[in-house]
Amino acid sequence: MSSELTNFNRRKMLKTLTAGAALTLAVPSLSQAKSGSKTSTIELPRIPLRTTPEMLASNEAFWVKIAKFYDKAKGIVNLEHGYWGKMARPVQDTFIEKTEMVNTQLSYYARKNYKMDDKLNTKKVAEALGVTVEEVVLTRNATEAVHNLIRQYKDLGANQTVLYSDIDYPSFKETMKWLAESRKVKPVHVILPPQANQQQILDLYIEAFDKNPNLKLMLLTHVSNQHGLTLPVAKISEAAKQRGIDVICDCAQSWGLLDFKITDLNVDWAAFNLHKWIGSPVGVGALYMKKGSLEKVLPYPGESDPGNTKISTRVHTATVNFAAILTLPAAIDFHQAIGGANKEARLRYLRSLWVSEAEKMPHIEVLGGLDKESSTGMGAFRLAGKTTLKDAKNLQQRLEKEFGVFTVVRVGLASGSCIRITPQVFVSSDEVGKLVAAMKKLV
Ligand SMILES: Cc1ncc(COP(=O)(O)O)c(C=O)c1O
Repeated sequence: MSSELTNFNRRKMLKTLTAGAALTLAVPSLSQAKSGSKTSTIELPRIPLRTTPEMLASNEAFWVKIAKFYDKAKGIVNLEHGYWGKMARPVQDTFIEKTEMVNTQLSYYARKNYKMDDKLNTKKVAEALGVTVEEVVLTRNATEAVHNLIRQYKDLGANQTVLYSDIDYPSFKETMKWLAESRKVKPVHVILPPQANQQQILDLYIEAFDKNPNLKLMLLTHVSNQHGLTLPVAKISEAAKQRGIDVICDCAQSWGLLDFKITDLNVDWAAFNLHKWIGSPVGVGALYMKKGSLEKVLPYPGESDPGNTKISTRVHTATVNFAAILTLPAAIDFHQAIGGANKEARLRYLRSLWVSEAEKMPHIEVLGGLDKESSTGMGAFRLAGKTTLKDAKNLQQRLEKEFGVFTVVRVGLASGSCIRITPQVFVSSDEVGKLVAAMKKLV
């Protein structure tokens, strides 16, 4: 089987949905796929002329049409889409087709063609992130990428310091603590307020930098998994670079939730997920290391890269879910066809629907960004003054059992536990309205 036949995307012509345009996606038809990988076409809805992403965000009729591309579970309003994303149906069809192909061809495909397909799919991811294929390696998830950067970081000496904050991903905070302990350096824990704007966040990081002149490495999260707080990564990174501090940037939750390119962030190392907001099958992440930045991170144990030029040596994923990786072009194409800016604006709009109401309720405390730049479509809240894990678990259960709204408890913020609210593009305004109605009754 030629790699040309195993990757339908290379034959596709796609463009982003822009105002006035109709978009046709070529997708494999399952019934035809077995007999020869033919494609059928689907049409995404037209965007009315002269419509900005912000105007489109509240166009319910448009998003109802987009929602038709997703299979939704009935019986519950699911507002917990921060765990992983959902494949749109054309992406799922591709995944099934690729799974069938891999399961039919087995090692004959993997040994002869996978290497080339892996390279092409990595290139697709790199292009979508705005960088070169030499700067990206696919991983199984963002965790694999961040853990490897932390564990394989080699430039730590006596008296040096590493930094993380309360809004970072719990497992990564633990890994940073492990790093400090195992290399006998001091860990610094920055605490951010439960609600903050860009300037407050930047000031707190700079204060920590100034208090800790021996800082060498820091973990920096683009969008927090707790409450969707968005950090001014480029500015914090600039201040860090001026002081010789290396930055590991966790973009696990941000890519696709926000519309950006890596170059906007001014970081040398970053970890991404494709299985969250890009909508790939579960099991695909990516590690980015800027050209020329490999020297400070050892190759994975047993790998060798004397010239520090091969990013692929910084991970060792071994046998992977081939079909999931082969589905990446379909997922990226679908994401880009809706448009990153359109998705970001719709998700922000859905958050604004419940946050604007919640802010009028004295019994509710909203968490996260105070200005547009510090927030995303993801948010969080708790009952005022109820900050324990038990309080948050009770609240999650009440929302689910009494009101049919599914959410998730988050722990890790210094200010206490909360409930995270994460709508997806196929969630309607009415569904968010059910959360608002429930919140009113939580007194
Ligand atoms: C901010 C953040 N970092 C890291 C992760 C880990 O992602 P994964 O489990 O896909 O590795 C998550 C997952 O929710 C996250 O939200």
